[in-house]
Amino acid sequence: MLKRIAIMTSGGDAPGMNAFIRSATRHALEQGIEVYGVHQGYQGMIDNLIKPLPREDTVNIIQRGGTILKTSRSQEFMTAEGREKAAANLRAHKIDGLICCGGDGSYAGLVALSEQWSGKMIGTPGTIDNDVAGTDLTIGFDTAVNTAMSAIDNLRDTGDSHSMHFIVEVMGRHCGDIATAVGKASGAEAILVPETKSDLDAVYAALHDKGHNIVVVAEGDELGGAYQIAELLKEKFCASKADCKPNFRVCILGHIQRGGMPTARDRILAHEMGLESVNALINGEHLKAVAIQKNKYLRTELS
Ligand code: F6P
Repeated sequence: MLKRIAIMTSGGDAPGMNAFIRSATRHALEQGIEVYGVHQGYQGMIDNLIKPLPREDTVNIIQRGGTILKTSRSQEFMTAEGREKAAANLRAHKIDGLICCGGDGSYAGLVALSEQWSGKMIGTPGTIDNDVAGTDLTIGFDTAVNTAMSAIDNLRDTGDSHSMHFIVEVMGRHCGDIATAVGKASGAEAILVPETKSDLDAVYAALHDKGHNIVVVAEGDELGGAYQIAELLKEKFCASKADCKPNFRVCILGHIQRGGMPTARDRILAHEMGLESVNALINGEHLKAVAIQKNKYLRTELS
């Protein structure tokens, strides 16, 4: 019988993490389960930043980006000694179930922790990158795509007025999902992603000689980032033209994509995944990840 669980967020923050914390906390409390929050991710678990998480702390957070529990990327947790400290803290607080919202590194952290700690563990996919295996969507992806899309809408206004060619770099680490979605949503002339070999000739052929162009490049593309792509395209543009001064501009959207109010889609996903993850613990599931496939919730192996 589950008495006390801990909830945490880990890795890069993602819009919707607060909606997830809200829903998981409230659902667990309603089932008579005590809820603790692990602050600052796995590093906070090592540093014993484990505190009760009352319902009041989850008021007025559904619309806020970031994570009220904060997050971190911990090197110390990658060592067995670090995880031993973290496990000792979980035992001291009598935690018997843990839910971690994060990406693939956070999932790997839970699997590694199972060597030191015997409590039940569930992962919930929270990352703007949408790169977690087994789920069609991760919490934060939709907001990041919408944020980048409206930034490109703005770029189009000025690009159109000045006939500029924008090379826009979006996040995603090794995954091209943000770039693909943003490129489609904003009508980009070309999209470069790490999953396929980028063909610069094809990108060049897609550009218009007159007016403006938008090229979206994922940060992990093998041809390089936006600055490199801009240089390569400039060379092609000017190959057979004398006195050529193409108006190429680079815009790196960066961490802007990680912040801001979550979209309705992300809030709903986070809300439902919060319920699903608590239910998974109640059902006695262990080392599973909550996932959505074809609009249905299911569990996958955390590993
Ligand atoms: O995983 C989310 C993400 O924003 C990636 O898209 C990006 O590559 C990375 O985190 C950036 O991490 P940091 O904020 O630690 O530089």
